[in-house]
Amino acid sequence: MNTALFTLYLGVFKRIARTAALSPFDAQERHRLGELYALYSPPAPSSDLPEDPYKLPKTDILELAHLDKNLLLEGVNECGFGHVTEFEVKVISQLVNQLQPRRIFEIGTFQGRTTLNMALNSPADAQIVTLDLPPSELSQTQMQIEKTEEMYVKKAESGERFKGHPLASKITQVFGDSATYDYSPYHHQMDLVFIDGSHAYEYVLSDTENALRLVRKGGTILWHDYTNWEGVRRALNDYYQSGNPVFRNLRHIGGTSIAVLTVS
Ligand SMILES: C[S@@+](CC[C@H](N)C(=O)[O-])C[C@H]1O[C@@H](n2cnc3c(N)ncnc32)[C@H](O)[C@@H]1O
Repeated sequence: MNTALFTLYLGVFKRIARTAALSPFDAQERHRLGELYALYSPPAPSSDLPEDPYKLPKTDILELAHLDKNLLLEGVNECGFGHVTEFEVKVISQLVNQLQPRRIFEIGTFQGRTTLNMALNSPADAQIVTLDLPPSELSQTQMQIEKTEEMYVKKAESGERFKGHPLASKITQVFGDSATYDYSPYHHQMDLVFIDGSHAYEYVLSDTENALRLVRKGGTILWHDYTNWEGVRRALNDYYQSGNPVFRNLRHIGGTSIAVLTVS
């Protein structure tokens, strides 16, 4: 090895040895090492990404139910504004088929499409109570409902999907404002409560408090529109983030806008 090469190797070796031995104690060297490390470290995640607005942990229908391909379904594809989606009506029907609830309370009847499909998949002796706001009471509600949901209240008929149906005997239709309705005859009786009335934040809170009084221990509450309406999302996020143990198991059913809670 010639002298020049030897001197070069020695220089490099000394530099490495000095860096390893002394840098941790020398502020200037530490700074230089930090800069070198930063050159090779992966870029920090961009803080420009919007924050995920959905705070509920996810579950899915495969975790919640053994899928039954022989569900009884009616009017799945006859839907539009104001209805749960085609997939959601199947998810709700699967849950009803799995849970076999004998007492169901629905807040927000609309045409009664979900009511009918719950009747089709619940036990033969199940009873469903479905509550709707009559158009005549739209201007007297306890709290303000959203302007954009008034059209679902102002309809010629409520519950037409189950009227005259052989399973209509399983369904009791009641009318009133969900915030002032007297639920006391049904307190702690319900195996399943489906909340799909007004989507205004204050209404979702009020309907949830009433649902908690309606449901029996071990019963289930479903909310529609967690991902579609700001009021529902905010109310459920607030409940989940409140630390209240009642809502610890509140979950969003992936692929749907439905949230689910088993009340312990
Ligand atoms: C989106 S629709 C319900 C859809 C229905 N659950 C389904 O799955 O097909 C909302 C319903 O809630 C009712 N509603 C709105 N505000 C209400 C209130 N304050 N009290 C009771 N029902 C209300 C409306 O009249 C309407 O029928």
